[in-house]
Amino acid sequence: MILIKVNIHGTPKEYRTVWMSGSSVCMINQPKLPHSFEIIELKTHKDTVRAISEMTVRGAGAIGAAAAYAMAQAAIEAPESSFENYIKTAKHTINATRPTAHDLFYATKRVFSAIRSKNNIKSARKTALSEAQKIADENAKAGEMIGKHGQKLIKNNSRILTHCNAGWLAFVDWGSALAPIYAAKQSNKSIFVYVDETRPRCQGARLTAWELCNEGISHAIIADNASGYYMKKKEIDLVIVGADRIAQNGDVANKIGTYEKAVLAHENNIPFYVAAPTSTIDLSCKKGDNIEIEERSEDEVLSMFGWSDDLKKITKIRIAPGKSRAKNPSFDITPAKYITGLITEKGIIKPNKNEIKSLFAQPLSKSTKSFK
Ligand code: MRU
Repeated sequence: MILIKVNIHGTPKEYRTVWMSGSSVCMINQPKLPHSFEIIELKTHKDTVRAISEMTVRGAGAIGAAAAYAMAQAAIEAPESSFENYIKTAKHTINATRPTAHDLFYATKRVFSAIRSKNNIKSARKTALSEAQKIADENAKAGEMIGKHGQKLIKNNSRILTHCNAGWLAFVDWGSALAPIYAAKQSNKSIFVYVDETRPRCQGARLTAWELCNEGISHAIIADNASGYYMKKKEIDLVIVGADRIAQNGDVANKIGTYEKAVLAHENNIPFYVAAPTSTIDLSCKKGDNIEIEERSEDEVLSMFGWSDDLKKITKIRIAPGKSRAKNPSFDITPAKYITGLITEKGIIKPNKNEIKSLFAQPLSKSTKSFK
């Protein structure tokens, strides 16, 4: 495990991004980073739902774990008289928070199936908790394995571009795109990371840069439109990004701007890898065009959020004319033809239907038992 190490009043402490404590879900409050490190405790599944919608927790894997825990909270809260209906409504509400990241749907489906495999409420509650914990643990382990496989692609003195944040904070631990970088660092390779700032919410400038500072990895934040400049100057050797959903044919949904990086990498003969666990692959989705793209508030584009000079409070500044409107798709689709390989916890594969299908030995089991 890499585990986020943060100095709290001078004492280093290790954290996962999201975890369960009793019936509460605890998580790192990501909008407060990088200048304030706070843990937020969410007592009910509705509180956890709000945290996912408002991006207190974000990033495909972390959203998946939070969704699994929210299902477990719902199982704890559900009245005996309407146990199954309560859970079904909770699943529906959790699924409605963010439409693009597949891990969220993967997690709620798995916990729901586990609950339905039991025929009494006491064991259903118990299994909901253990299944949610299993999903979170698998997520952390997948990140570690992605790191092990992916670091083989990284030569000493590599200069790597990444987009958005697909590190610890986007998972339970390790991350996806950043996991090979952390593993390469642990193998004493020297690395330099170009960090796309990733407007509008600046997950690169705020979160990836914060993680890299914690890990002592050399990096520079670049404006989103600067990567082509560095690629053309041959200052980028490799691109590694994460994924929010991968279709059966290898097309990838990831943070808005990923598609542009992939086309630029192709034009400049730079390998372009997508790192993601198999829980991000949606076998029911034939191609990228079928993936729903989340449209977020125009306020994220029209304004910027940042810290006051004394780093004491977050302030919002309007950057566009008062009468201007904005559009804000949160993700785009990168066609498989631009992707050199998918780095998964099971190994590195080509982004095509055959190789993707071969990763899945068994489908998820379904149960139709009802409660007594
Ligand atoms: O909107 P976010 O911050 O939840 O977006 C998700 C992401 O962080 C990225 O798209 C990332 O590259 C993939 S998530 C591991």
